[in-house]
Amino acid sequence: MKIYRANILFTPTPEAFKVLEHGYVVVGDDGNVVDTYQTLPEQYANERVIDFGDRLLMPAMNDLHVHAPQYRNLGIAMDLELLPWLNAYTFPEETKYKDIGYAEKMYRRFVRDLWKMGTMRAAIFATIHPEATCLLADLLNEAGLGGMVGLVGMDRNGPDTLSNTVEEAVEGTKRVMEHTKNMPLISAIVTPRFIPSCTPEMMTALGELANEYKLPVQSHLSENQSEIAWVAELEPESTCYGDAYLRYNMFGQTPTLMAHCCYTSGEEFELMRKNGVFAVHCPTSNCNLGSGIAPIRRFLSAGVPVALGSDVSAGSGFSIFRVIHYTLQMSKMKWVHGGHKEAFLSLSEAFYLATKSGGSFFGKVGSFEPGYAFDALVVDDSDLNFDNYSIQHRLERYIYLGDDRQLTHRFCQGKEIPAPRIIE
Ligand code: GUN
Ligand code: FE
Repeated sequence: MKIYRANILFTPTPEAFKVLEHGYVVVGDDGNVVDTYQTLPEQYANERVIDFGDRLLMPAMNDLHVHAPQYRNLGIAMDLELLPWLNAYTFPEETKYKDIGYAEKMYRRFVRDLWKMGTMRAAIFATIHPEATCLLADLLNEAGLGGMVGLVGMDRNGPDTLSNTVEEAVEGTKRVMEHTKNMPLISAIVTPRFIPSCTPEMMTALGELANEYKLPVQSHLSENQSEIAWVAELEPESTCYGDAYLRYNMFGQTPTLMAHCCYTSGEEFELMRKNGVFAVHCPTSNCNLGSGIAPIRRFLSAGVPVALGSDVSAGSGFSIFRVIHYTLQMSKMKWVHGGHKEAFLSLSEAFYLATKSGGSFFGKVGSFEPGYAFDALVVDDSDLNFDNYSIQHRLERYIYLGDDRQLTHRFCQGKEIPAPRIIE
């Protein structure tokens, strides 16, 4: 058992923070939270307390959409929209992951940067390459981080050097499943890149795989208007883009993440709601590629689950705190452009998306309620806290002004996670 004392904040519900000023969290030997307390119960009176003083202690970040093999392209190649961007910059970079030495060098940096920015769990796209994808799982597991790793299926409209066959995608995903079966916090996820990259045969096979092995699914949906028009041409039998996934049983038949959903409405919206499909909001990416603004308030009001994603490298950084910041700003732009009809998001709502909502994809993750995994960050914001700010204002200032320099401790499933090693 471990007992920590600090200024504790978390969001059991989207509406408000629970704040314990100089409160306590008790963590069991299984790495799960026993409970939080404003004053420590008598039964713990003789236990050692690890005191973080005046620092903040909050749930760690969850990144529900990120491309590990786009690491090298971070912060460059922002001059094209989605489809030409994929062809000009992204596919050529991902092709390099055939080389396991290159993959190791980049994937070590990827894992280190997730850790650095306070992301303890992530849903990750790898590439078509099984060896590099298994290596990525190894590196995450060694680091002590949690998440899901997807071998990407793509067999049309890409370069030959970045295409797999249906059999390779299925066998590769099974290999990742086998490879991760003894890893406590890492598992496989079925990953058709998006409809334009996958033939009906690929979609059929991946849908069968997901349903047979009860594997979750991740992909992209309604990110950009040219993409949506192309999907309508490629899949004329589908009534909408989302229906193209549904027809292959990859739209909520098993837990499903759909990145972007900028233009989701009507039938597609209804299908997401009915099937509990997650909309993964990636506002930094949507700004960089000029994609659009997802209707997050509408999703939340209708009960569509929403999580946040960095979408590196269309998103230009790993910080989910930065993604929270953009989520708030973009929701205000949506509010302005929608004639002030749908309310913009509050700070606690955006924080909830990054913690408890995104974390729910991995189990009981993202809160400090009893039974939740103790995934946590300690923030020393003394450089930002030069006046009598409230605890909640200190978190708000950290989200808008802070970065990794204020993060002093990171925990995943109860364990403190040291800096993962990189190859210089
Ligand atoms: N759609 C298909 N592939 C990708 C990708 O790598 N990034 C983004 N943002 N959208 C995609
Ligand atoms: Fe993406």
